[in-house]
Amino acid sequence: MSDLRVDLLGQVLPGPVIAASGTFGYGIEYSEILDLGVLGGVSSKGLTLNPKYGNEGERLLETPSGLINSIGLQNPGVRHFIENELPAMRRALAGTGTAILANLGGGCIEDYEEGCELLCATDVDFIELNISCPNVKHGGIAYGVQAESAKEVVGRVRKVCTKPLIVKMSPQAEDIARMAAACVEAGADAVSLVNTFQACAIDLEKRKPVFNNIFAGLSGPAVRPIALRMVWQAVGAVGNAVPVIGLGGIATGEDALQFIMAGATAVQVGTANFADPAACQRITAEMDAWMDKHGVKSLDEIRGCAR
Ligand SMILES: Cc1cc2nc3c(=O)[nH]c(=O)nc-3n(C[C@H](O)[C@H](O)[C@H](O)COP(=O)(O)O)c2cc1C
Repeated sequence: MSDLRVDLLGQVLPGPVIAASGTFGYGIEYSEILDLGVLGGVSSKGLTLNPKYGNEGERLLETPSGLINSIGLQNPGVRHFIENELPAMRRALAGTGTAILANLGGGCIEDYEEGCELLCATDVDFIELNISCPNVKHGGIAYGVQAESAKEVVGRVRKVCTKPLIVKMSPQAEDIARMAAACVEAGADAVSLVNTFQACAIDLEKRKPVFNNIFAGLSGPAVRPIALRMVWQAVGAVGNAVPVIGLGGIATGEDALQFIMAGATAVQVGTANFADPAACQRITAEMDAWMDKHGVKSLDEIRGCAR
């Protein structure tokens, strides 16, 4: 058995694999399928200050080695989460060191701030700020595209955030290294990347786009090499200052180890949970098996070794 524990901003996580937002519910149901105690953390479904019904029309489409989703951040809102889902999450994770990440989205800065304040008054371990959301007051361009816009939202949230703040970056960023640096300058304690890649599909029979919003988010193994390149770049830009959490298309232990060797502190697993509900536990075991076979005793021995 290798030592798979990860120190993330002073909190020791039992493992390097965190279940990614939107792909693992609140983790509660999964306690019957896998041992949540081997996971580093569970990132909640993306929360917004007020409940959201999500998008109309098609929401999911399978593509070669990938998935396109247009869920539209359907969620019960921060207050409902705090009163209902969070206590159940805590019960499901009791006695484990598995962290709770509250993934927070928003359409305007004020909503991000208020949502963050409410979440910081609870016992969640980390705030994961999703800046892929469209800025409704500024033409709908996502906060995570331009470094200046990200800097503004991260800086404002930082002022009210009393928890460790992880900023989850979008692969749509104009320049991923500059974006990572801007988030850290604005006060991010860590960055996670990547969110989904903007994609499109056309329904031939209808002669129309499959998704009402035309574009939707691509994830899964199809994106992994690009995600890995972006994680490499983010580590190069900010890896000396803050932890970088890598994700995008990880489906096996060997995939996860590539992100660690690129310099990621920990990884997240999303789409793989749909094909294999026990993916996070399996991937952790596969990482362990590879490390055992190669005489690697801890992740620190190989983190960033490919650079
Ligand atoms: C159905 C679905 C819903 C998602 N919902 C969220 C969300 O609410 N908040 C968020 O930050 N990311 C969300 N994501 C993005 C994932 O957390 C992850 O960043 C992305 O899918 C890339 O990782 P993967 O290839 O392992 O899935 C969602 C992804 C999928 C597939």
